[in-house]
Amino acid sequence: MEQVKIFDTTLRDGEQSPGCSMNLREKIEVARCLEKMHVDIIEAGFAIASPGDFESVKTISETIRGCTIASLARSTPKDIDTAWEAVKGAADPRIHVFIATSPLHMEYKLKMSPEKVLERAGEMVAYAKKYCSNIEFSAEDATRSEPEFLRRVVERAIASGATTINLPDTVGYTTPGEMRELIEDIKNNVKGAENVIFSVHCHNDLGMATANALAGVLGGARQVECTVNGLGERAGNTSLEEIVMAIRTRQDVTGLTTGIDTTQIHRASQTVYNIIGQTAPLNKPIVGKNAFAHESGIHQHGVLANKKTYEIMTPESVGIHVNNLVLGKHSGRHAVGQRLEELGFKLSKEELDRCFDEFKIVCDKKKNITDADLEAIVTHNTNIVYEDEAEGYKLDWFQMSTSNFTTATCTVSLEKDGEKKQDVALGDGPIDAAYNAIDAIIQPSAHSFDIFNIHSISEGKDTLGDVTVKVNAYDRTFTGRGLSTDIMEASINAYLKALNRMAAYERKHSNEAAPIKATEA
Ligand code: KIV
Ligand code: ZN
Repeated sequence: MEQVKIFDTTLRDGEQSPGCSMNLREKIEVARCLEKMHVDIIEAGFAIASPGDFESVKTISETIRGCTIASLARSTPKDIDTAWEAVKGAADPRIHVFIATSPLHMEYKLKMSPEKVLERAGEMVAYAKKYCSNIEFSAEDATRSEPEFLRRVVERAIASGATTINLPDTVGYTTPGEMRELIEDIKNNVKGAENVIFSVHCHNDLGMATANALAGVLGGARQVECTVNGLGERAGNTSLEEIVMAIRTRQDVTGLTTGIDTTQIHRASQTVYNIIGQTAPLNKPIVGKNAFAHESGIHQHGVLANKKTYEIMTPESVGIHVNNLVLGKHSGRHAVGQRLEELGFKLSKEELDRCFDEFKIVCDKKKNITDADLEAIVTHNTNIVYEDEAEGYKLDWFQMSTSNFTTATCTVSLEKDGEKKQDVALGDGPIDAAYNAIDAIIQPSAHSFDIFNIHSISEGKDTLGDVTVKVNAYDRTFTGRGLSTDIMEASINAYLKALNRMAAYERKHSNEAAPIKATEA
């Protein structure tokens, strides 16, 4: 069966959207998930955007061997040189060159005539081709471009060496019928079209990104650009999980397949949400908590009689496992390890030890441990959040006084290298007071406070609270996460971890130039 290539741009279009920035380690973690899922192409970033972007595209290129790695580049020699420098170490590098082709973008953004854009597109694809055989060309805002002009640009890009032609719906404006017609028109009327792969890249401004991508595929596109959880500029991009499951579930219509291991979808979604400190809306297709839940009596009755009455795909097919096994304080290391294995985690002995220690701590506060709790424990105790937290301040104890008629007060005791330090502070609320006390003890460098996010892992009053804190300094994001049945403890630990990370970065870069502007929040 013919295969549609999955081009994931979570680390570029997804990461560039507000609230979704990731640090290098987080990007590598996402890239590993994508590789495990057998994504065909990872767009690792926009190398010229900043030194941090360059570093992450380069590191991912050198680390991930199972996927093509692409970097985005505008149609300028400098962008293309930088993109190549960043991806050249990849097992299969790709340079992704783009230029806008709609009248609006050419006149107001590029301030270039159509003829100049046509010329530049050809020249820059040829320029990139000198470095790399695998060249993608995107006609930005293709769906609002003049059809005749778009055909000429695409023809020029193909003649200049492009191997993939992407026709983005940059502003999420098109409809499925139009998208299908666009791909069919270009495929039928452009010289050399038979030698390249056509791609779609749809934004979700009108909620049609997945429908438009699928329509493009039905029109002959054989690459879809998408992101995990549909992250991306404004309302996001086509979500990977939706398009992959649509192609698979409606194979009767598409007659196509993808190379994706769909059982990795749930894990990838969770990883990305954890990193950006968000949770899926309950009703989000494929990955939301309710996506496979059957609450109403009629539905439950139907599902009990035959699952297919209300289930068009199984939770197992996207990696969700329904667990009847209850773990608790009497469960041993073996039972915990076995359940983690069943959930798809392959942990080293040290990682399992750490997770089991944490499991025991949680068991003292919470009677039944669910799969969601276990997943949270693993996420908090393995590579994403562990390495450079080993050094730094740890919470010794805290004491809080808060009410709805006085100012909150918090005393915090922290420990570092066997030494304990305490301080007390007031705040607008208990978290503010605790963070002020921590600042008084640690006296961290100036930083802005980017994200504070709290969510519950499972149901019930004794649920684990999962807190993510992101602080910004030195043009970087430092993430900390805390997990506890006590949300104050989780909040304190999350902030401490973020500050410890920042301090570790400062130690490592202490003899470099002075900090780049950092503003106090
Ligand atoms: O939306 C868009 O047009 C893009 C291109 C740069 C591919 O992201
Ligand atoms: Zn885009």
